[in-house]
Amino acid sequence: MHLYGMPAKMDEILEVAGRYGIPVLEDAAEALGSRYKGQFCGTFGEFACLSFNGNKIITTSGGGALVCRSADEAGVTKFLATQARDNAPHYQHSSVGYNYRLSNICAGIGRGQMLVLNQHIAARRENNQKYMQMLKNAPGISFQDNPTTDFESNKWLTCIIIDPKKAGYTREDLRKKMDEHNIETRPLWKPMHLQPIFHEYPFYGNGTSEELFNHGLCLPSHPTLTQNDLQRVVELTLPSIVGHR
Ligand SMILES: Cc1ncc(COP(=O)(O)O)c(C=O)c1O
Repeated sequence: MHLYGMPAKMDEILEVAGRYGIPVLEDAAEALGSRYKGQFCGTFGEFACLSFNGNKIITTSGGGALVCRSADEAGVTKFLATQARDNAPHYQHSSVGYNYRLSNICAGIGRGQMLVLNQHIAARRENNQKYMQMLKNAPGISFQDNPTTDFESNKWLTCIIIDPKKAGYTREDLRKKMDEHNIETRPLWKPMHLQPIFHEYPFYGNGTSEELFNHGLCLPSHPTLTQNDLQRVVELTLPSIVGHR
């Protein structure tokens, strides 16, 4: 899974998966247009999924796409996604299918959206650059950024981590302050093992995902944000403002 558009460490993942014969299924829902070592996310695994949900880099209002390696796999996928209908004039089913197809209206919207994909990526990257520039001296705030030039995130969302000791406020203080000003921000994803539905299950980890969830915040990142909008968000992160009610 490529988080917030940042490519995962694909070399390491593919090496381990290859060693144990594990097929790699890529969740590239957030990473359309991102690249790892020059190669697009969504083209590394056996299969990959993309999302065109309303909040994504391009949208069809809902739905997504499966990326696969062969026409045969695409054929089986379409067969299963369109109720597994046998080749007969009447409705006949020899296997169980699903109604997972994207409607033709949504697909039409998607074709139009593909034309603006590069513009959306450029605008989100620009937002990210401006936030990083404007907040570079803000105490206790760090950014999710490309760790090396091998990683080229589409910067779907600009995500920050707040160190409460250095910033003088917590992630929640900032989120609430933004909310008071009618600016929606979100904590980073809640880890799966903290989801109530999985509370009985074993979990292996080192606390990194909890740490990110507790201290991380996604800032407004839409391509249509203006310089003034970004400025408003940045001003609200000043310790004197967050602390003041
Ligand atoms: C990483 C990731 N995977 C899967 C999904 C689900 O995609 P969809 O909403 O199109 O079902 C999302 C977001 O919605 C996502 O961010």
